[in-house]
Amino acid sequence: PETGCLSIIVLGASGDLAKKKTFPALFHLYCQGFLPPDEVHIFGYARTKISDDDLRNRIRGYLVNDRSASPSEDVSKFLQLIQYVSGSYDGAQGFQLLDKEITKHEISKSSQEGSSRRLFYLALPPSVYPSVCRMIRKYCMNKSDLGGWTRIVVEKPFGKDLDSAEQLSSQIGELFDEPQIYRIDHYLGKELVQNLLVLRFANRFFLPLWNRDNIDNVQIVFREDFGTEGRGGYFDEYGIICDIIQNHLLQVLCLVAMEKPVSLKPEHIRDEKVKVLQSVLPIKDEEVVLGQYEGYRDDPTVPNHSNTPTFATVILRIHNERWEGVPFILKAGKALNSRKAEIRVQFKDVPGDIFKCQKQGRNEFVIRLQPSEAMYMKLTVKQPGLEMSTVQSELDLSYRQRYQGVTIPEAYERLILDTIRGDQQHFVRRDELKAAWEIFTPLLHRIDNGEMKPIPYRTGSRGPAEADELSAKAGYVQTHGYIWIPPTL
Ligand code: BG6
Repeated sequence: PETGCLSIIVLGASGDLAKKKTFPALFHLYCQGFLPPDEVHIFGYARTKISDDDLRNRIRGYLVNDRSASPSEDVSKFLQLIQYVSGSYDGAQGFQLLDKEITKHEISKSSQEGSSRRLFYLALPPSVYPSVCRMIRKYCMNKSDLGGWTRIVVEKPFGKDLDSAEQLSSQIGELFDEPQIYRIDHYLGKELVQNLLVLRFANRFFLPLWNRDNIDNVQIVFREDFGTEGRGGYFDEYGIICDIIQNHLLQVLCLVAMEKPVSLKPEHIRDEKVKVLQSVLPIKDEEVVLGQYEGYRDDPTVPNHSNTPTFATVILRIHNERWEGVPFILKAGKALNSRKAEIRVQFKDVPGDIFKCQKQGRNEFVIRLQPSEAMYMKLTVKQPGLEMSTVQSELDLSYRQRYQGVTIPEAYERLILDTIRGDQQHFVRRDELKAAWEIFTPLLHRIDNGEMKPIPYRTGSRGPAEADELSAKAGYVQTHGYIWIPPTL
């Protein structure tokens, strides 16, 4: 691994993302020894004029570590690594000051061998990405005589449609090369999402089954049991498709559907993801159901006549040899009856099935991303007992039970470590982003123009009934009278 001075600069240090995700992730990395204090310094940058201690006090409450033996000592030590610099997002002065502080720190550590590494984490709205990137490029790049690198980390929303996303990409692309840009999609940092590659390509079981001959339909589902409280203003501009489906669920789809990469090299993996995205056919209006929960417009930051969907079911069809005819049903919703994210691969019926009349449902392979991470295979077995009847059961790999005592890292923690190590496998490449926008842009424009309207649904429900009807029409068969219960310890 590289050594030498590492400066992590969190821009937008007093904002929500920084407080809730970035600093806690850095803290966990620190506690596990990935950010050695003799090499690492952390800078917070934002417009507000506050002191180092003010910033530390603002984030202290978010730093929790159940894994540590001496949590409060760890928190204090970690906070001491953080220094605050204030300045604007488009003026030279603040960034010159920032560079001076980083350089000071680099010189003070230069007794050690090694290079100067600068990681800029933009916990900011995308509207300021171009100006911030320009300022970094101009004033804050690593000093080449020391070697090392400068990297920037950005997060969605990357635009609102194909044109705006491409514009943003080219603005950033003029300033930084692709290997310097880390576009976070935090779903790619989730344990069971990362497992997809291993599962699919390291197991003989799945190889012959993973295709249109055996799989009837695939569902990728995201549900939340709370609304957009507090984020209505942001959410209303984007809606559920840009917030969840175009990025998180589509990334999951890529990993479920892509062909085997040539190797595990990040570029090989990303090449395959792009191919899948480019094979997706245009979305048909009749394969979309939009919803908006009742009460969404009561939020004072949401316009009274908002047409923004808080729920959507969209069927994607992949035009290639493996998947022709298999619907990929992507479903996401806010203010529903439960909180979970899962992939549900449903197999076709058994041909010439002699048990057909007594069967409860089809074979399904379910990957539960959260909560209660698990993989389970639903299958039909003989009901234990004297009668020869059948019942739906499961082969269950529940992580909590199988990997007791193992803490599953937070998505951001893992992804930030990747940015330091220079591994882009779990980040979105520019051509991937473009292909993702190409799929959804026509639909998004139709929604924006009011040509497609969301159906109201009750808070705490399953979403509009029309969505279930659409899934059923696409071939999904719901299993009645069976539920999977995550094992308790
Ligand atoms: C974010 C969305 O990207 O993901 C939020 O903007 C959503 O609307 C969140 O709540 C869900 O993330 P997770 O990791 O809690 O499933």
